[in-house]
Amino acid sequence: MSLLYVKNLYSGYGKIRVLFNVNVEVVEGSITAIIGPNGAGKTTLLNSIYGLADVYSGEVIFDKRNIVGLKPHQISALGIGYVPQSNNVFSSLTVYENLRLASTGLSKTEFVKKVNEVLEIFPKLKELLDRRAGTLSGGERRMLAIALALMKKPRLLLLDEITTDLAPIMVKRVLEKVVELKKMGITILLVEQYAHRALEIADRVYLLASGEIRFAGEPQELLSKKELLEIYLGVQKSFGEGSSQLS
Ligand SMILES: Nc1ncnc2c1ncn2[C@@H]1O[C@H](COP(=O)(O)OP(=O)(O)OP(=O)(O)O)[C@@H](O)[C@H]1O
Ligand SMILES: [Mg+2]
Repeated sequence: MSLLYVKNLYSGYGKIRVLFNVNVEVVEGSITAIIGPNGAGKTTLLNSIYGLADVYSGEVIFDKRNIVGLKPHQISALGIGYVPQSNNVFSSLTVYENLRLASTGLSKTEFVKKVNEVLEIFPKLKELLDRRAGTLSGGERRMLAIALALMKKPRLLLLDEITTDLAPIMVKRVLEKVVELKKMGITILLVEQYAHRALEIADRVYLLASGEIRFAGEPQELLSKKELLEIYLGVQKSFGEGSSQLS
């Protein structure tokens, strides 16, 4: 069953039109990847789902309800978490203060319970609770950003380029966490420019270019379409499967 269904979506920012007739279905309990080049409209798609872009027409159905027109805090309350591409932690605050801020609305008891759960998923953060978020490594910061979104108990998590600019070993670790979240029952919509490893963990993939969906299907099928990868993602035909250049 689809937990999220983006239907015939046209959206953008004021007069700047970005997405054209986009259709995306996210099955409950799955990992869905959206990939595409810079400026394709990937972030705009997540912004459109989360009430941060202008939707001109079309629908965003979450759990059988059209959420177009709702404010981000209302969408968050319905069970959608968003880890934005940038500015996703408060750099001048400590890790603990970030977690506290993300739990606005929870009682002290609920906060303690939730924070312990989240720290079980990201044990490394336990050692870093008193550190200012601005001093964390790139990988640690991504983990914190995901932890902050988890504090609100989302059913669907929108993740925008959480592996970009990380060393291959950190990419692997962060994506392992994403698989862990899926196993915990959280549905994932993951945006990446082009990460071979992201395709390895995805159940379904959409290729977005110039605001339109150019491919929808299984990751293996997309990987076999070398022309598509070359035209839209600049991936050379000569690259072997699993090449580190693709990660
Ligand atoms: N707040 C905004 N106001 C106006 N135009 C915007 C805004 N944000 C993005 N755009 C424009 O929308 C288009 C799509 O941008 P978007 O950020 O969605 O692409 P992207 O696929 O996420 O790219 P990247 O891989 O670089 O993150 C671009 O032309 C961009 O300049
Ligand atoms: Mg983006």
